Formats: sequence, structure tokens, C-alpha cells
Amino acid sequence: MTPKELVQQAMEAMQLAYAPYSGYKVGAALLTSSGRVYRGCNIENAAFGPSNCAERTAIFKAVSEGERAFDAIAVVGGKDGVVTGVFPPCGVCRQVMQEFCGPDFRIYMGRGDGSFESVRLDELLPYGFSAEQYMKDPAVGGTAEKEESQ
Ligand code: THU
Repeated sequence: MTPKELVQQAMEAMQLAYAPYSGYKVGAALLTSSGRVYRGCNIENAAFGPSNCAERTAIFKAVSEGERAFDAIAVVGGKDGVVTGVFPPCGVCRQVMQEFCGPDFRIYMGRGDGSFESVRLDELLPYGFSAEQYMKDPAVGGTAEKEESQ
């Protein structure tokens, strides 16, 4: 799976976006370390708050199927599904990536003409708050470890 092919998969995922409110259609394609691809699209809601981004749809689909090791994600988006430039992941999606992905996890942002911009997660989310940071506190970390081993 080349980055270009992953971006193409994100373009296809975008077609299924449910975005009747904003009109912004977004698609994502997540590459697991085992070589599988999970696609996602944004899914909006009349109450706005429950809306979900394409990236998180793809990541949650993968995690719910037992996948936890990821190499890269491709993201494309644009008004009415017309991609005119990169569509960078929102802050919440960056934080969800931080939970499961290492600093060298790649984000390919498609420009809509077959080209893409490639950034690492530690460029997209510098000083990110991680599970590692959380576990540093002996009190909090201790509890989390106990729960994990039960
Ligand atoms: N959106 C995504 O799917 N991913 C992002 O990273 C940014 C925003 C969606 C949410 C909403 O449905 C639409 O784009 C406009 O914000």
C-alpha cells in the first residue's frame, strides 16, 4: 500500500460522508501495521455534538476490530466533496491518534490532484498528552496498572 493508494482510498471513503449540515465531506483511510486498511467518513448529527470526524471513525472501527498498531492515515476533505487543498485533522482527532500511534505515525493530507502533504504525528501534535505521561504519576499510574492486570 503506497501513500498515494492510501490517499485514493480516503477519496473513496469520502463519498460515504454524511454531512447534511456543514456540507464538508471528509474521508480517511487508516493503514494498520498488519497491512489492513480501515476507512472512515464524517458522520454529522442534527444535535451537532454527536458528530464524528472521518479520522476517528476509521480509528474506532479498527480498534473495535482488535487493531492497535497503526502506520499511517490518509485524510481528504472539502465542501460538497470537492477537494481543493489539504484538510488537516482537528485537535480531537490528533489526540485520538496520540493514544494509539507513535511519534513517527504518518498523516498524508491529500490535495485532491493526486498529490499529498506528509507529516509525522509529533509535528501535528507537539507536546502531546499521552498514556505514557498519564502513567508517570505513581498514584494514577498505579491504579491504571492494577486495572489493566485484573
Ligand atoms: N471533520 C472531519 O471529519 N475531520 C477533521 O479532522 C475536521 C473536521 C468534519 C467534521 C464536520 O462534519 C465537518 O468536517 C466540518 O467541520
